Amino acid sequence: MQAYLEEKIGNPDLFTGRKRELQKYLRWIESIADRNSRSMAILSRRKTGKTALMQRMYNILFHENGDVIPFYYEIREEKRWAIHFCKDFFLQFIFQYIAFKSRKAEYLRQPPPKDLSAVIDIVQKEGLDYLKDFIDQAAYLAKEENTSEMWDYVRDLPRGLASLRNEFFVQMIDEFQFLNSKIYRDEAMQNHIDDFAAGYFHTAEYKNAPLLVSGSWVGWLMDDLIMMLPARFTLTELESIPEEEAVEMAFKYAQVRGVPITEETAYMIADIGEGNPFYISAFFDSQSPDKDLTTKEGLIRVLEFETLNEGGIIKSGWMEYVKTAWTKINGRDARRIVLYLCHHRDRQVTRKELRKTLALDMDDQELETKLDSLVKSDIIEQGASNFRYQGVQDNIFDKVFRGVYAEEIETFDTGDISEDYRRMFEASEKKYRKLLGQTNQMKGAFAEYLIIRQLRFHAHRDNPRFLGMTENPPPDFRFVEYQSVWTYRYSPIEKRDFEIDVFARAPKGEYSIIGEVKNRSNRKFNKTEAAAFLEKTAALVDREEIEKSVGFIFSVKGFTKDAMAFMKAHGVAWSSDGRWLDA
Ligand SMILES: Nc1ncnc2c1ncn2[C@@H]1O[C@H](COP(=O)(O)OP(=O)(O)OP(=O)(O)O)[C@@H](O)[C@H]1O
Ligand SMILES: [Mg+2]
Repeated sequence: MQAYLEEKIGNPDLFTGRKRELQKYLRWIESIADRNSRSMAILSRRKTGKTALMQRMYNILFHENGDVIPFYYEIREEKRWAIHFCKDFFLQFIFQYIAFKSRKAEYLRQPPPKDLSAVIDIVQKEGLDYLKDFIDQAAYLAKEENTSEMWDYVRDLPRGLASLRNEFFVQMIDEFQFLNSKIYRDEAMQNHIDDFAAGYFHTAEYKNAPLLVSGSWVGWLMDDLIMMLPARFTLTELESIPEEEAVEMAFKYAQVRGVPITEETAYMIADIGEGNPFYISAFFDSQSPDKDLTTKEGLIRVLEFETLNEGGIIKSGWMEYVKTAWTKINGRDARRIVLYLCHHRDRQVTRKELRKTLALDMDDQELETKLDSLVKSDIIEQGASNFRYQGVQDNIFDKVFRGVYAEEIETFDTGDISEDYRRMFEASEKKYRKLLGQTNQMKGAFAEYLIIRQLRFHAHRDNPRFLGMTENPPPDFRFVEYQSVWTYRYSPIEKRDFEIDVFARAPKGEYSIIGEVKNRSNRKFNKTEAAAFLEKTAALVDREEIEKSVGFIFSVKGFTKDAMAFMKAHGVAWSSDGRWLDA
């Protein structure tokens, strides 16, 4: 995957899964060209991967070079004078547009010039002279220092340009809630503007440049959308990633970061991480001393470090957030409330119970306001009615919170948390064993990752052995050290289902491997499947410009006679030798 816009995720190979969401949002984006898509908001808990998804979609759309032009803008968490903000918004938009039109990604990476006349030179150089008037206009408004006119102008520009040129945009605006909290009317930043987002009341309705907004302060974001922009946005949620994607994510981080894991610990990381990409990645990025992700005990130690130690990524991530929330909410009572709800996480608690049990010295109105703020900050959840509340259903947040505040509030024993973790991992271990029993084939569930690992680390070191486990390779074939070995999935170019289980890219002159892995225990691989596979390999060869390759099918249960004849005739290699799955 080529990243045109730099992604926060870092190495683009790390991006895993989100298959369902990519399909859903890309289909929505495709419909913009038919004027069928209304603005959307992605609202979901913190660190579920909203930014990663939006940035990946940007790069997919840029790569596809289709009818809908992407615009991604992150509103920064810092105070800004409206004129500076608008100018930045304008320049980001113009430069992303120039990059898209000229197909030059360097425009996405270089900081735009501060001087707008320099921008005019650039648009002329790229043959986009029609942008000149817009730049002149923005320069004029910036000079006038009229904040509301300037905002009207730049905010409406994507839509206006779309109408004028008969083009389409998707405007992905991240950290949307900061529009109402970080922008100031005056350069000295004394007069805060609390309704900047309201400008979208009309802008967000146009179908030729709809918005896709998100942000990390979900509660506040939702408030802005409901109060200022009612019925303008379809609200959607980003769910946890499904188990199979979470396992894949663990294997990916393990390989990219060079941290060893086993099939069992990959499963446990995915399971304990509750499908949350932030938690899963934290295991691999953890600075925990003597980190060992190959045993259950090692995982427990890493998670304890991550949640209880100052140096933990998870702990510091959550605390930064919680502390900001305290400045909005204030008070020891709030902490006691959260702690109480954490302790009773399995049920909803009424305001009455909170007031009584915690002997809170405040009236119901005040308590409601406080609880409401906690809900907005994503630190507790609203229950089934306005009167009921619940701790967040997140096993890990709960421990971070208890670790920090239980001591302040009540006698505290960290041993409890360790015990909790032990129980969680033991339950996870049991689930894993059961899963293995069901697949009826030790390691079957993870076959493709095991084969990837073999190709990456072992096959090229022991050609005779691996060739001995492989039928029908080309006569001059050998395993080599591959440039990359990974699953090829939901690629930038293809939003429809296109999956290649294993793709090992070889250096020049050598055979790349395009592999399919079937781990089902009840049926042999048949000829129809082999033919479908062959078609897919041709598509991949074309798409990835692979000069020399061989198809390879691994099937736990073996192959039908027809399939073998077909593979023989078409030069496809195969195997059902269990040694391919040896760790
Ligand atoms: N699909 C993915 N594949 C691999 N890693 C991911 C994926 N999605 C998210 N991550 C990782 O999880 C972490 C959180 O992701 P991200 O910052 O995108 O979440 P977010 O929902 O935007 O968070 P916030 O609520 O803070 O805005 C990051 O470290 C990111 O690299
Ligand atoms: Mg984000």
